Amino acid sequence: MICELLGVDYAERDRFQQRTATALNATTPPDERMRAAAGLYAFMAELVRAKRETPGDDILSGLIRDADPPLTDAQLTDIAVVLLGAGHETTANMLALGTFALLQNPAQLAALRGDPALLDNAIEELLRFLSIIQLGVSRVATESMTVGGVDIPAGATVVIATPEANRDARQFDDPDRLDVHRPRPSHLAFGHGIHQCLGQQLARVEMRVGLSELFTRLPDLRLAVPAERVPLRNEMLVFGVHALPVTWA
Ligand code: HEM
Repeated sequence: MICELLGVDYAERDRFQQRTATALNATTPPDERMRAAAGLYAFMAELVRAKRETPGDDILSGLIRDADPPLTDAQLTDIAVVLLGAGHETTANMLALGTFALLQNPAQLAALRGDPALLDNAIEELLRFLSIIQLGVSRVATESMTVGGVDIPAGATVVIATPEANRDARQFDDPDRLDVHRPRPSHLAFGHGIHQCLGQQLARVEMRVGLSELFTRLPDLRLAVPAERVPLRNEMLVFGVHALPVTWA
């Protein structure tokens, strides 16, 4: 989806997918991650040059044509790298991990299948329950303050642990339970405030279409391996599964 919107040829995905994976792997040595990130920038800088020469019907070409004042190549490259990374790893992992969570909770999946009107609610609940961006919401304190008994000096960087917030028992009843009926689960999976996720509506559409088509077309979808053998992305900055072996009749 994000390739098509941005104007990245999907056939080129091998060129950026491996680099994104390296850049987002917390166990990769920093210099290797920096090299991968530099490779991504070079790839995108090349694309920006190509779009200036031959514009298409895509976001990058639109930004080149319409931004006022015009954006420099460096700005366009930054925007493209952020959008590709933020728009690609997140929804892909949310779809796979969301599928895994529903397959592990057959009563919840049955409730969803029985009442497709529950889908939007189920998506918010999956976002809350899974919190795939676990440490992605960070802020700089503009003044000294005390939060939860912790003194935070002005200028300090604060990283918000979204899974903690999204499973706060003061906010959610029985927070460790996936419940597609949970009324309007208001969560921090997309962050909060002015920097709240720019792509959240696109992400919701992708999940709505992806999950409903998957479970409608494959009513007998089930795990092909025991749940504990599904490899989890514990070392990645975007949580999810490395693979989700499934089968159907
Ligand atoms: C389920 C999928 C997604 C999740 C869970 C997610 C999560 C997040 C989170 C937690 C933030 C930080 C917000 C904050 O600091 O308050 C963020 C920011 C951002 N996201 Fe997403 N995201 C998703 C999909 C997308 C998509 C599809 C796009 C692009 C098309 C996107 C683009 C961005 C951008 C550009 C920012 C930075 C916004 C800013 O700093 O002003 N995200 N996202």
